[in-house]
Amino acid sequence: MDTPVEGFSKLSKAEKIDWIASNFTKNPEQTKQLLERYWNTDKGVQKLHDEFIENTISNYYLPFAIAPNFLINDKLHAIPMAIEESSVVAAASKAAKFWLSRGGFKTEIIGTEKVGQVHFIFKGEFEKLERFFEEVKEDFVQDTASITRSMEKRGGGISDIELRNQDDNIEGYYQLHCTFETLDAMGANFINSCLEQFAKTLKEKAASYDNFTDAEKNIEVVMSILSNYVPNCRVKAEVSCPIEALNEDDLAPEEFAQKMIQAVRIAEAEPHRAVTHNKGIMNGIDAVVLATGNDFRAVEAGVHAYAAKEGKYTSLTHAIIEGDVFRFWIDVPLALGTVGGLTSLHPLVKLALEILQNPSAEELMQIVAVAGLAQNFAALRSLVTTGIQKGHMKMHLMNLLNQMGATESEKQQLVNHFKNQTVTNASVKEALQKIQSQ
Ligand code: MEV
Repeated sequence: MDTPVEGFSKLSKAEKIDWIASNFTKNPEQTKQLLERYWNTDKGVQKLHDEFIENTISNYYLPFAIAPNFLINDKLHAIPMAIEESSVVAAASKAAKFWLSRGGFKTEIIGTEKVGQVHFIFKGEFEKLERFFEEVKEDFVQDTASITRSMEKRGGGISDIELRNQDDNIEGYYQLHCTFETLDAMGANFINSCLEQFAKTLKEKAASYDNFTDAEKNIEVVMSILSNYVPNCRVKAEVSCPIEALNEDDLAPEEFAQKMIQAVRIAEAEPHRAVTHNKGIMNGIDAVVLATGNDFRAVEAGVHAYAAKEGKYTSLTHAIIEGDVFRFWIDVPLALGTVGGLTSLHPLVKLALEILQNPSAEELMQIVAVAGLAQNFAALRSLVTTGIQKGHMKMHLMNLLNQMGATESEKQQLVNHFKNQTVTNASVKEALQKIQSQ
């Protein structure tokens, strides 16, 4: 395929499939059948999915699972998770069960502030820009009244608009740094619409501001966009129990507690470990964020920036021993929504939110932070006791057997066999061959 395609988005779905299958796949007929097999049988639902994005040719499935028994602030939750990695849901469920009998998870919202910025170039004296800003600040709010009206009725809206001097970073660069309260909406559209209006107001007011020179009147707006760095939209989730209650593993409770503390300290101290440690946390966070139709890329970007806020990448979780009590917690920024976006459109997202009892955005933040903390507890617990591969490979066994084309009865026999054996690619292959040769 050497020539670019013209007007691909205007082709019908069948034409798009034809083009991709015949130009890029070895067996076009098989490709078409595969893509069709993944269509929803309900035409209405399929149309909905087709219209989420451009150029849809099929659906891409991920497993949708439930991790039950999460006791959060004394209320039981079953948490929906969308994820492909074998051991994540099992680990979450295990951690939930562990803490169920030890008081459960406690959470606290630290803030709900969202951020957006207008980035602009001003060629003049900062003091004059500051005076101008103070004089027109109210206009920014007034000019966005039609955008903010309904959000304000519900108690949200623009919280503040600040002029920031970034001239030390880039010559002539300044920002309107704006903060918002978007309630149960993630708020991206609301924020971006406000920002684009701020930008218009900024340019217009500057152009007619008598105290500016011609160069100063000509403010150049570079861009207006929300920031996914939301250090003041944060939630804390915690578990704690007497050390003696950490009594389920082969290790003595005191030794287990010390090892957990060391594991966390290492992640706090050393970026290579911190990244993997936080990746395990994101296994839990992303799975719930995805299941509830939220933007996991935004969450990922914001979380990792927060983890590096002191200039060095570090752990999102922390642990201490206070007297004879073990405490383990996460502190994480999460900008989430439970209204708008896909929340009322994607049938499984709707169901996930229903399973979570239709939470507010703040409640969802707490549930998601708990999923991250639980995942990290489960990972560290395995790492400092049995090692991660035992549990991971047990869960991965089914994938290996499926890859090797095992029948249902072979799978059953081998799942039994591997209850007490180490799962590796080679050991599974060998065991399967042995059964098949009998
Ligand atoms: C694997 O997806 C996640 C872990 O590597 C996390 C960790 O090491 O803490 C097990």
